[in-house]
Amino acid sequence: MKVWRLNPSDTQLEGTQIFSDVCEALTDGKLVAIPTETVYGLAADATNGKACAGIYKAKGRPSFNPLIAHVDGLEAAQTHAFFDERALKLAEAFWPGPLTLVLPKRLTSPVSDLAVAGLETIALRVPRSEVMRALCKSTGRPLAAPSANLSGRISGTTAQDVIDDLGEHLSYLIDSGATPVGVESTIVSLIGERPTLLRPGGLAREEIEAVLGEPLVRGGTNDSAPISPGMLTSHYAPNAHIRLNATDVAAGEALITFGTSLPEGADRAARLVSLSDSEDLSEAAARLFTALREADLGKNGKIAVMPVPHYGLGEAINDRLARAAAPRD
Ligand code: TXA
Ligand code: MG
Repeated sequence: MKVWRLNPSDTQLEGTQIFSDVCEALTDGKLVAIPTETVYGLAADATNGKACAGIYKAKGRPSFNPLIAHVDGLEAAQTHAFFDERALKLAEAFWPGPLTLVLPKRLTSPVSDLAVAGLETIALRVPRSEVMRALCKSTGRPLAAPSANLSGRISGTTAQDVIDDLGEHLSYLIDSGATPVGVESTIVSLIGERPTLLRPGGLAREEIEAVLGEPLVRGGTNDSAPISPGMLTSHYAPNAHIRLNATDVAAGEALITFGTSLPEGADRAARLVSLSDSEDLSEAAARLFTALREADLGKNGKIAVMPVPHYGLGEAINDRLARAAAPRD
């Protein structure tokens, strides 16, 4: 694996040797870890079934769980899916950004069946990440990219997280530091009559509803018949056991804090990890996965998490925390 360290000041990507090397790796069907504004993605050419198989294999991901196709803009997105008026409104308001749209797939889209797990729908996203968009544009390929972590584990928000989980499978890793949003994109399905929130994420529900002029129906979490197949209940799991909405701390527990008024027994905590001292939900989202890793003291460890408000990005934070705390094998 080769590492490309990308500084925010590197604005000229196209034309550099490393950029063309990465393009070549992608068009050759190799796996590349690419930062987006939400989390790192494990990317491959979405039109290449074999390359997509490599993603599932590297992640240990159940093959029924489809991948998001990343594209460089609305025009490219429209070659893969049908956009109704609602889809156009959302794309114009929020792309590039942390929003994924699930739409009816065009039969003419070259995205492989494996990337969409055989569905007649496709999840599309135009990320804010310059490097991801430039790579889509220069390769002329949509890039399939799930979060760069082993299936069921916490999403990678730093290059080191990605190396720990997937290093051996990568041909390149593009390291641009910690991802600014820190939780995955919000997923909205426009397949049915009512727009449906399949996964709360880095774009707050309230902002989407304001543009649509109607509320989002909540969908997605149903283990026996998943609407969004990736929405299995136990997910984002650290090794330690997690206790939510903690208003006290037992000796030996690690405590994930929100704000500075700490619960009873906080002085007994084995470790204190702050999501946001100033109760800023964007900061808390950006720190969430790193905080879970830092508080994870292993299989016999316990993590108590202070309550996080449920509005704005709090919805995505509480969703990830609930999944991290869900019973598992
Ligand atoms: O922020 C993000 O969205 C990151 C970055 C890398 O873009 N990607 C990401 O991908 O979180 P992943 O694969 O970890 O999660 C994508 C979710 C999965 O739960 C999958 O089931 C759902 O999107 N999904 C993909 N295609 C779908 C479809 N056609 N219909 C419903 N759900 C779909
Ligand atoms: Mg994921």
